[in-house]
Parts: sequence; structure tokens; C-alpha cells
Amino acid sequence: MNIQDLPLDRLDVITASIYGSTGYPHEAWARMRREDPVHWCEPPGYKPFWAITKHADITQISKHPELFRSEGRFILFPEDTTSDGEIDLEENPPLRMLVNMDPPEHREYRKLVSPWFTPRMVKRLEVRLEEITADIFDDLEGERELDFVTEIAALQPLRMITEILGIPREQEDFVLRVTNENFGLEDPEFQREGETQQDRLGFLTEAAAFLNALFEDRRRTPRDDLSSVLANATLSDGGPVPPFELFSLAFLVMVAGHDTTRNAISGGLKTFFEHPAELEKLRADPGLVGLAADEIVRWTTPVNHFSRTATRDIEFGGKSIREGDSLALFYASANRDEDVFEDPFTFRIDRDPNPHLGFGVGEHFCLGASLARMDLRVFWRQFVERVESIEPTGPIELLDSSFVGGPKHIPVRVKVRGR
Ligand code: HEM
Repeated sequence: MNIQDLPLDRLDVITASIYGSTGYPHEAWARMRREDPVHWCEPPGYKPFWAITKHADITQISKHPELFRSEGRFILFPEDTTSDGEIDLEENPPLRMLVNMDPPEHREYRKLVSPWFTPRMVKRLEVRLEEITADIFDDLEGERELDFVTEIAALQPLRMITEILGIPREQEDFVLRVTNENFGLEDPEFQREGETQQDRLGFLTEAAAFLNALFEDRRRTPRDDLSSVLANATLSDGGPVPPFELFSLAFLVMVAGHDTTRNAISGGLKTFFEHPAELEKLRADPGLVGLAADEIVRWTTPVNHFSRTATRDIEFGGKSIREGDSLALFYASANRDEDVFEDPFTFRIDRDPNPHLGFGVGEHFCLGASLARMDLRVFWRQFVERVESIEPTGPIELLDSSFVGGPKHIPVRVKVRGR
């Protein structure tokens, strides 16, 4: 049955496989925005939640952490049907990161890393980022067939974040694998037969050993990198950062710092294949790359949702929300909100203004937004300079996930010119 004819309660905006097979459920969200923007969902396999689909509502909720906390159910995962229910990823997350902390603790921890990601600090990294990107295109000179996601899009943000953390190049494959297993928790490509959720979290033990060894090294011999700052950091009471929180913070920066940007790059290429005139516009005027970067983030919205929990009974959007209820903030829906964007379903690289929520808003606004914007600007500017032609040679495969989204494989034939 057509989405337009289904009763609202039958619309599914959360099952991961829908995202992998047909992409983001924009038609369903458009109906929710129109008919019931704070909508109670009880999908099979998930605990119930309110779907928040309007830009203004997501903004208001994100700016009030005292009413809507991040601790607890901060991402919506399916209930675990493979194990005996011993672990509950939502109620007992295996990490305590910025994204599942609340003020005042959240601010204390965010301060430990935020100086490394200010626009001024990021500007200092630009020269290095230009080199990293140019090296990637140098290695591809000539004409060849490859997977754009794994062989191009993944490399530039990965190399930038590993350099910031001081992780040597030889270990970048490890960082990439851990990241894929983290964001691919629901995608069969990153799972093994018969695994429980508990088994699937094995990568966390490996990542903890890896980061702890790095911290040990930087306590003995500090360098000019973020790992040295973290390893030797203290809280405002002068005490050391507890090991679990320290690992969680570094893990978040390590994985959030490149998977998302990779998805924006590969999602950007998919979008340009679908809107070739916009790529031509960028080739004709590379000065548009700053606006293009934001339009790509709006259009692809690589982080689809985070969730909040009501701290008390509250009336919101005409609904009675009860203490403990979950609210899923669908940024991708907000980014097509007809009340905010002119022609929201048109991809226009020169869209200005572009107040999208691709980086979130409020208390948890993306720490790496300046870095991500610079990554994207540098990447697409060099792309139009160096890539003479690029065309798909097979179907694009999307990730099965309603948390983060994007292509996981784009087979292409590409012709890259020299510097
Ligand atoms: C296009 C790329 C990126 C997108 C779309 C993106 C998106 C987001 C979103 C939607 C949030 C959550 C906001 C909320 O809960 O209100 C977030 C938080 C965060 N992002 Fe990004 N991000 C990107 C790149 C990066 C990079 C490069 C880093 C590198 C450090 C990073 C680090 C973080 C961290 C640490 C948080 C948690 C902040 C907090 O809870 O205070 N992100 N990001």
C-alpha cells in the first residue's frame, strides 16, 4: 500500500533495514510533520517513543536538557532478541560519553576536548588537511574502478582524526574496523552468524586496550596531540578523569570524528549522481564549496537521530509526555521542514541561508562541526579540481541503520588528473 494511504500508526521510521533498502523515510516524516508532528510510535521490536519531526520542536527539546535528558536511552536500538536480555544497550549503555551525559557533568567533560575543535584551532589544521587530501588523489592518478566509500571517502576524515589523536598511520585500519563495527551494529555486513549484541560489542574491549596503551605512552612521553591532553587531564576539582569516562570520551572523538564525515562525502557523491547539474555548478564556481558543504549535510543528514528522555510529566506540542518517555529527534526530517526551508526537497548547492540541524543544536551541538565543514570544503574543492570524470559501475548499497546513514559501497569508474 502507498505511504499516503496507510494509517499514521503503521508508518515505520525506525527499523534499520528500511534505511538500508529504501533510504531515509522522507515520505513518512512529511506526513507526520503535517498530521502529527509529536507522534507516539509503538513499532514492533522497539520500545515505544515519540517521533519529533519538526525543526522548531527538535530545537526546543535540545535546548532544555533539564527537561529532556540525554542520559539513558540516547539512541533507539531494537530490543535484543538474540540474547537472554542480560544487557540492555539503551538503559545500560556500555560507555559514558558526552552524548549520554547531562549538565553540569556534560560541560565539565566537553571542556576537556573543546579547545581542540574551535574554528581557530581547526584553521591551523587546514594546511595539513589539504596535503592529506592531495595525497589521496595522487595515489589515484589515471583511470580505475574502485569502491568510492572505502577507497576514497573513508580516508580523508580518518587520517585527520587519527592525526589529531596522534594515532600512527599503521593503526588506521584498526580504527576503521572498530568504527564500522560500532556504527554497523544493526547491519548484517558487520555481523557474524549467531552473534548476540553482547558478542557484537567485543570491539569495545579491543578499543579500550588500544586507547589505554596510547594514554600510558602519553603519560610517559607527552606530545603535541589530543591523546596527551586527555591522558594528563584533570577535572575541575583537581582529580584525575576516571578511566571509564576517559576511554568513553576518547572513543567518541575517535569514531564520531570520521564516520559521519565519510557519510557526508559518500552521500554527497550519491547526491551529485542524482543531481548532475549541481556538480557542474560547483565545477564552474568552486567558491560555492562552503555553501555546498552545508547543503550536502542538510540533504544527506548523516546523523539521523538522537533520543532524549523526559525528566518529568510535561505538555509538549499538544501532547502529554510522561516522565521517562523517550523522544526521538529526527534531524533528517527537520532538514526538510517546509516551515523553515524554501523548496526543502530541492538540492541546491548555493542554498543560503541554510539553518539545518545536521549537526544538532543546543547543549550537544556537534563538537566537530568546524572540522567537518573544513573536511568537506577541502575535499570537494580538490575533487572538482582533480576528478575529470566519475560514473557509477554498479548499485549503491546503503547502511542498515536508523541512527547514522549513508552509502556503504559506491562502485565507480574514476579518472583523476595529476596536480
Ligand atoms: C558531517 C559530519 C558530522 C555530522 C553530520 C555530525 C553530527 C552530529 C550530531 C547530530 C550530533 C549530536 C547533537 C545532539 O545530540 O544534539 C553530534 C555530536 C557530536 N559530534 Fe558530530 N558530526 C559530524 C562530525 C564530527 C566530527 C568531525 C567530530 C570530531 C570530533 C564530531 C564529534 C562529535 C562529538 C564529540 C559530539 C558530542 C557532543 C556533545 O554531546 O556535547 N562530529 N554530531
